[in-house]
Amino acid sequence: MSSTPNPTLHVIEHPLVTHKLTEMRRVETPSERFRQLLTEISFLLTYEVTRDLPTRDERITTPLTEMDAPVLVAEPVVISILRAGNGLLDGVLRVIPSARVGHVGLYRDHETLEAIEYYCKFPPIEGRTVIVVDPMLATGNSASAALDRVKADGPADVRFLCLLAAPEGVAQLHRAHPDVPVWTAALDDHLNEVGYIVPGLGDAGDRIFGTT
Ligand code: URA
Repeated sequence: MSSTPNPTLHVIEHPLVTHKLTEMRRVETPSERFRQLLTEISFLLTYEVTRDLPTRDERITTPLTEMDAPVLVAEPVVISILRAGNGLLDGVLRVIPSARVGHVGLYRDHETLEAIEYYCKFPPIEGRTVIVVDPMLATGNSASAALDRVKADGPADVRFLCLLAAPEGVAQLHRAHPDVPVWTAALDDHLNEVGYIVPGLGDAGDRIFGTT
């Protein structure tokens, strides 16, 4: 891991991203459409998160000639924070189909808002680029706990991808992990007293899976 603190926040304000996000925010958008939009938006966000992945030249033969052409040095590993992180996986894996995927299960203690781990299974991540995904960066507690777990396995570099972020969550994540850049479709106004992002889109897990 790089030891140089370099807190970075990338807000992807591409019109296709902002339009899809607006559709997702609408209270009347049903789960089926919400999931479809999440897949489409995560596809676009992944394009940005992976923009600077290292490549190396490989000698290939085209139908016309030989050339040195770039290929990825290594596929990144994707870590989904359960359960809502799984809603992003479809889109991420369409862009990086051969990525290996890990899961970490964390729930929020409703009183303390602390993240409690109940499940963790990772592929080998030592020396790899790891993209941790969760749609909502709210308090930043789950994200920070997930990043602690990921870093314990010695990745080369770690990035965090979400759909919506609260300023409080970004500040907490940057305090705990100043070396981890964050990509999001929007930075919302604030967290409410029960840890929901405002204006937000509600409970992402419930909206993805149709639970209440
Ligand atoms: N998790 C969600 O699903 N929504 C929020 O607004 C905050 C955390």
